[in-house]
Amino acid sequence: MIGYGHVALIRLSMIIWITIIPMCDNHRGIEKRSGVHEVYVQYLKCSRCGTIYRLEDKPVMCRKKDLGRLDIIYDYEAIKEAVSLDEIKKRDKNMWRYKEFLPVPDEKYIISLGEGYTPLIKAKRLAEHLGLENLYLKDETRNPTGSFKDRCMSVSVSMAKYFGFKRAAVASSGNAAAALAAYGARAGIEIYAFVPDFAGYGKIAQLLFYGAKVFRVRWTEAEDPTVKMMRLLAENYGFYPSPSFGPFNPYQIEGPKTIAMEIVEQLGLQVPDQVFIPTGAASLLTGSITGLGTGTMLAG
Ligand SMILES: Cc1ncc(COP(=O)(O)O)c(C=O)c1O
Ligand SMILES: [Zn+2]
Repeated sequence: MIGYGHVALIRLSMIIWITIIPMCDNHRGIEKRSGVHEVYVQYLKCSRCGTIYRLEDKPVMCRKKDLGRLDIIYDYEAIKEAVSLDEIKKRDKNMWRYKEFLPVPDEKYIISLGEGYTPLIKAKRLAEHLGLENLYLKDETRNPTGSFKDRCMSVSVSMAKYFGFKRAAVASSGNAAAALAAYGARAGIEIYAFVPDFAGYGKIAQLLFYGAKVFRVRWTEAEDPTVKMMRLLAENYGFYPSPSFGPFNPYQIEGPKTIAMEIVEQLGLQVPDQVFIPTGAASLLTGSITGLGTGTMLAG
């Protein structure tokens, strides 16, 4: 099993090192409904061509096929009016305590396995070793399938459920596919996982345990064949694309935002000076940066 990764928030006097070491009004789009939380997504906007989408358009990728990332625009003023920090503090200790800051418009679509609110551990000895005053590790291995990707896929699969997708596809050699397989099983959505032929057997076993259909794809050309297969299913056969990178799914990146929000809350509403973040495709980095902004807002 592969083990790598650290997300981290740091400051000179207060250092946080978020470790992630796993196994390897109609203006708001959809009207307020009773008994559920209001939708705070105003719209989604393509970062390439500027096309605006409402949630009821069920946007996943830009329909202009320009591979532009869809950015989710929230109505933060409305969120501020609707929920207080005191109220959030009383909620269950998982990432959905920040539900107003996530795109799922109705609680009944939330697909959760209890992800998030992972411990922020003060690493005294490591801090001494590194000559630092305050160093914290955010232990994302405590998530249900062992990595922060659970946050991504909890949001992504919830949106798939809301949109009514029955099948989802992913290209991944590891943690993202495992997380999607687990949340897909929870939601009753069939998962087609395309993995490179060199993917570790441990990861493949994890996918099979969760009931995913696994396709090992031989890598013979420059273009990643797992991405090619996932796009083929999404663009021609109506599958929901749910990788943890690129412009293929705008919702998954909202999950990691909650890591940074938790850190601010767990530090008693302080924002750390520095964060160290392990980076591959940079969804975690982007999400954490957004979350720090949101957390700062939360801290007032
Ligand atoms: C455990 C772990 N940490 C960090 C990363 C990097 O995340 P990103 O690709 O969002 O930069 C990954 C991605 O696969 C991961 O599985
Ligand atoms: Zn576009």
